Amino acid sequence: MQVQTQFSKSAQHYDEYNIVQQQVVDHQVALCTEQPTRILDLGCGTGALFKSISWNLKQLVAIDFSDEMLKYHPSGDHIELIKGDFNDETLFKSLGEYQFDRIFSASSLQWAKDLDQTFQLIKEFNAPISFSIFTQKTFAKIFETAGINPLLRDVKMVLNTAEKYFDIKSEVVTYRLPFSNSLDMLRYIKASGVSGGRNILNYKQINHLLREYPLDHLEFEVLFIHN
Ligand SMILES: C[S@@+](CC[C@H](N)C(=O)[O-])C[C@H]1O[C@@H](n2cnc3c(N)ncnc32)[C@H](O)[C@@H]1O
Repeated sequence: MQVQTQFSKSAQHYDEYNIVQQQVVDHQVALCTEQPTRILDLGCGTGALFKSISWNLKQLVAIDFSDEMLKYHPSGDHIELIKGDFNDETLFKSLGEYQFDRIFSASSLQWAKDLDQTFQLIKEFNAPISFSIFTQKTFAKIFETAGINPLLRDVKMVLNTAEKYFDIKSEVVTYRLPFSNSLDMLRYIKASGVSGGRNILNYKQINHLLREYPLDHLEFEVLFIHN
């Protein structure tokens, strides 16, 4: 299943399952020391960034490639919801006339196919950035128990790529989400869309995982990048 399809399927219940993403976006907004009023949000989902911002905005341009996610995003005169793909150069060309005080992306850029290209295109806006990106140690014990390679880029690789284009500060935060049993944990992974819809485990691996997963929680590793 494509990443886009999986997020569209998760949209209706996304707000019930985005427990970690909510903590992530709150931290991201807290790291922002000024109060930018013209904002671009890449991979906006159902509006976690907008809901986390406490000051008045003049303009929010919220981008997502899932119609379903956009459907649940708050709307308003100062909110422009645009269906677009941050892997696609034409999105950035179509936004060429906009001026932003800050570009946010919360819990989304780990799905960039070519992060180097996406960062390069974002740099063209010449605006400060605030990104949170899930990195390799997310679900580390699941991958280890199942004997498969991690899905996401490691912190160093993301930082090296970001530093080519931005003068940044960074921070890595790990989050834990407790579960009473492994089945609930696997249901959460599916419903939250955090696996990006990739069927990373086959039936046999899932059964093995349900029996052998040694932790009572899921682990998430998030890299915060800002300037
Ligand atoms: C984990 S959700 C995060 C949503 C929101 N920013 C939050 O903090 O709750 C990731 C979002 O990125 C969107 N997304 C993933 N890849 C994308 C792409 N290539 N272009 C645009 N949106 C994308 C998904 O549709 C989804 O809404």
